[in-house]
Amino acid sequence: MRANKAAIDRDTGDARVHFHDFHPAPADLRAEVLSGLALKQKRLSPKLFYDARGSKLFDRICELPEYYPTRTEIGILERDGAEMAALLGRDALLLELGSGSSKKIRVLLSALRPAVYMPVDISREHLLESAESLAAAFPDLDVHAVCADYSVPFELPVDDHDHPRAAFFPGSSIGNFEPAEAERFLKRVAGILGPGARLLIGVDLVKERRTLEAAYNDAAGVTAAFNLNLLERVNRELGGTFDLDGFRHEAFFNETDSRIEMHLMSTRAQTVEVAGERFAFAEGESIHTECSYKYSIERFQALAGRAGYEPERVWTDPRSLFSVHCLVFAG
Ligand code: AVJ
Repeated sequence: MRANKAAIDRDTGDARVHFHDFHPAPADLRAEVLSGLALKQKRLSPKLFYDARGSKLFDRICELPEYYPTRTEIGILERDGAEMAALLGRDALLLELGSGSSKKIRVLLSALRPAVYMPVDISREHLLESAESLAAAFPDLDVHAVCADYSVPFELPVDDHDHPRAAFFPGSSIGNFEPAEAERFLKRVAGILGPGARLLIGVDLVKERRTLEAAYNDAAGVTAAFNLNLLERVNRELGGTFDLDGFRHEAFFNETDSRIEMHLMSTRAQTVEVAGERFAFAEGESIHTECSYKYSIERFQALAGRAGYEPERVWTDPRSLFSVHCLVFAG
């Protein structure tokens, strides 16, 4: 595997783990928060959830009884992994977008047997740690870890086309994008992979309101803590003066737009200071913190189609809670 000049290898201690650092720009928290809070409908990006504490809380969300997506998707991967592997083909160059702890790919690796596994993640330490533990668990696997922001264009740090190309994008992370953005994102992934490549993507399905809303309003209050942690983060990192008792977690299914919305609702009229600027909240005024779009199989296939993909196969669980799509980029 030849490496592009752009990529910088770092000795990771394991000869089979290559590290390519694209030095993604660190998020400008101050600018993002100040511009989001200045909007008429105040907004904070869901990207900001994932500081160290937020990432731990998210891991706990994935274990909650009400939060069906994680365990349902893993169930599908376990049940149908062999079929997925047959479609994606042996000896692929397999990209994982936003690999995090790479827990889900472990389910697929022994069936998939890719020539190269290329996890892409913005969090350098997290990425290296999981790349090394994966290389240790799969001794035949060649790992090329790429530190990059996959939401901005980047080139693969390898330039050979000897292997069929595939990408894995689990967890319904696509649901965080507005549909038009999701389409642009899928186009960009296609551009990175090239014609003939396959995309294996996890997408949460529309279902009855009760099930959807319970998943984002768990009884243990972990999702509420995850949402409120945004305000704690702003207090910590930007010297904000948010009173955590003055805001409450709210999550509901917006059926018109087919999305879960999460908000932080001001329980009284109040003024908050962030990085020297003042923001007024009316009672009942909210900060919109997340959208999580839910698709039918057909609507997701139509969206992917507009991005140049053809549906090849889709797997769901027996209750049709979650879907895993195999799409081919026609080029
Ligand atoms: C990581 C975006 C897929 O939308 O279900 C979970 C994030 N937010 N609970 C989702 C989340 C609240 C999650 N995604």
